[in-house]
Amino acid sequence: MGSFMGQYSTSLPVVLLICAVLLLNADLGLCGCFKRIFSFGDSIIDTGNSAYAGRNNPGPIMQSPYGMTYFHHPTGRVCDGRVIIDFYAQALGLPLLPPSMPEAATGQFPTGANFAVFGSLALSPNYYMTKYNFKMPMPWCLDLQFDSFKKVLARIAPGQAAAKSLLGESLVVLGEIGGNDYNFWFFAERSRETPEKYIPDVVARIGTGVQEVINLGAKTILVPGNFPIGCVPAYLKAFRTNNPADYDEFHCLRWFNDFSQKHNQALKQEINRLKSQNRGVKIIYADYYGAAMEFVRNPHNYGIDDPLVACCGGAGPYHTGRLCNKTATVWGDPAKFASWDQIHMTEKAYSVIADGVLNGPYADTPLLHAC
Ligand SMILES: *[C@@H]1O[C@H](CO)[C@@H](O)[C@H](O)[C@H]1NC(C)=O
Repeated sequence: MGSFMGQYSTSLPVVLLICAVLLLNADLGLCGCFKRIFSFGDSIIDTGNSAYAGRNNPGPIMQSPYGMTYFHHPTGRVCDGRVIIDFYAQALGLPLLPPSMPEAATGQFPTGANFAVFGSLALSPNYYMTKYNFKMPMPWCLDLQFDSFKKVLARIAPGQAAAKSLLGESLVVLGEIGGNDYNFWFFAERSRETPEKYIPDVVARIGTGVQEVINLGAKTILVPGNFPIGCVPAYLKAFRTNNPADYDEFHCLRWFNDFSQKHNQALKQEINRLKSQNRGVKIIYADYYGAAMEFVRNPHNYGIDDPLVACCGGAGPYHTGRLCNKTATVWGDPAKFASWDQIHMTEKAYSVIADGVLNGPYADTPLLHAC
């Protein structure tokens, strides 16, 4: 497809005509860009894996008001509606990605699968136990997601050549991942300095993941960075201080935003290294920090009232008085909020971030121009 499009790249009307024709072909995505998406990550893009894993003991995310927007019922997404990966799939002309777990042993995944799981780490929980004697609250990590992915791949495209060709026409979205490696530590109120020491290991694990999918045949990999966690209601509440110098002009916590930027800086360096070692492969850094700062800086441009308060929760600062569940307060139309449940964002916020990646400027190649 790439070389076919290349032939016509000088003639915009011809390209548009081809796109229009291809869009009529239901099997192909936008201009036949990608046939599938395979994604890895945590609760930011989980579309039902955690809910499936915990189906015998459904938690709050499987109850209203989760899913109240767009789907009008809980789907396992940790959001009022669609999450970032849903917007990518829709913009690329693909159906919403199925979670991998329910069909891990049987699914053909003709348009891809989402391996992301709520609570997932980049590094394994064992790393934190061995190195810092710290017990992570959940077992999920990239190792497990990749194990499952490789089993699925071996089943739907047996043999190296088949896997290579299948992945070559797929988009791989690797992240956001790594946020929980920090979140769980910070909320356990352990020394803030330690996570700065393990940023290189978190980033290296993401990097080996990128290299692994490239070795299997992936040609386009999107790697998102971390969010401005200092603007997240749960952080604002837990690390609230009386010192105005701890806050930036948007009333976010400086230290935590600086921390996210350190992670992102290291990740960008790692991506540059991977780019130089894998010529001919598109590795795209998605700047989720910058994209999220859009609605922190200019909330009214997006119809958001206060970007630092949760839509679903309780009374008290940032609406964090209680967690979001069936009996919590929904403080208004979710489309007027950036934070959904004080940790995860609203469909509105995710749509703004996805748009910044699909159309720029928050991706080094806007995703819609990546083919
Ligand atoms: C919702 O959360 C509240 C307080 O956090 C708790 O008391 C209540 O039992 C929960 N309700 C459900 C249905 O999970």
